[in-house]
Amino acid sequence: MSMTTKVCIVGASGKLGQYLVQHALDRGWEVVGVCRERSVPKLDRFADRITIVPGPTNDPDVIRRAAAGCDGVLTVLAPWGVQQYASGTAQAVLDHAAPDARLIFSCGWHITRDGQDSYSRRFLATVRLMTWLAKAVRAVEIDDQVEACRRIFASERRWTVVRGSDLEEGPSQGLPVWSRHVGDPVLASNLTRRVDFALFMIEALDDRLVHEAPAIVGRLSASALAHHQDPEGAR
Ligand SMILES: NC(=O)c1ccc[n+]([C@@H]2O[C@H](COP(=O)([O-])OP(=O)(O)OC[C@H]3O[C@@H](n4cnc5c(N)ncnc54)[C@H](OP(=O)(O)O)[C@@H]3O)[C@@H](O)[C@H]2O)c1
Repeated sequence: MSMTTKVCIVGASGKLGQYLVQHALDRGWEVVGVCRERSVPKLDRFADRITIVPGPTNDPDVIRRAAAGCDGVLTVLAPWGVQQYASGTAQAVLDHAAPDARLIFSCGWHITRDGQDSYSRRFLATVRLMTWLAKAVRAVEIDDQVEACRRIFASERRWTVVRGSDLEEGPSQGLPVWSRHVGDPVLASNLTRRVDFALFMIEALDDRLVHEAPAIVGRLSASALAHHQDPEGAR
């Protein structure tokens, strides 16, 4: 988006959210962050530079207030939680962001848009185990992120769903490399710096990836170095 001046970051208090806040401030943009009331202190270091709207991210009123006047809404679809938190959050953003706003969402590789992704047996086994464990302890709702993305993919809004590989901390390696499908050799390393996941979401605010669900991997990962050719970071 060439004219971005104000963004709303939904789920700003998490690890990915805090990186999103930092990147947006680095660009001189106005930032409105949404997070649960009890998580507000996690944003203390930004408190004098951003507006915080405390509240559940799946509350339509909270999202309506926070997203008002924003050119872009960057949403962390929570990997954890109960009570349809991810799908409720996605729905609130789809319903209440400004009509022309760019909407960028985060999720994991396990989300598939067109069924053309091909996963390793190990990856599938891990997702199955996580889903089972989640149900067993009633703490994690992996299936709800699937439902959240189903609604986004069906929407006519100007969305992009960024599908993250496994993540690690560490300094930026630059803009991740992406592919439309998991299984592409370029993605094989399955590792991205969290700071660069956030960078990719920020860069996606321009119009190039509207209605795309890029799967990303670190640009200095072995598979990216071996298979990536486009110098611009997009294939
Ligand atoms: N971790 C990975 O390896 C990985 C891999 C691929 C993709 N991703 C994607 O990356 C994004 C960020 O994930 P992350 O693992 O890095 O975590 P994160 O950035 O720390 O984000 C976790 C988010 O979930 C919220 N949350 C946690 N527990 C909650 C609860 N009980 N009720 C409501 N909200 C709750 C947090 O809000 P509070 O601050 O209020 O707790 C925070 O906004 C997600 O979209 C995830 O699907 C992660």
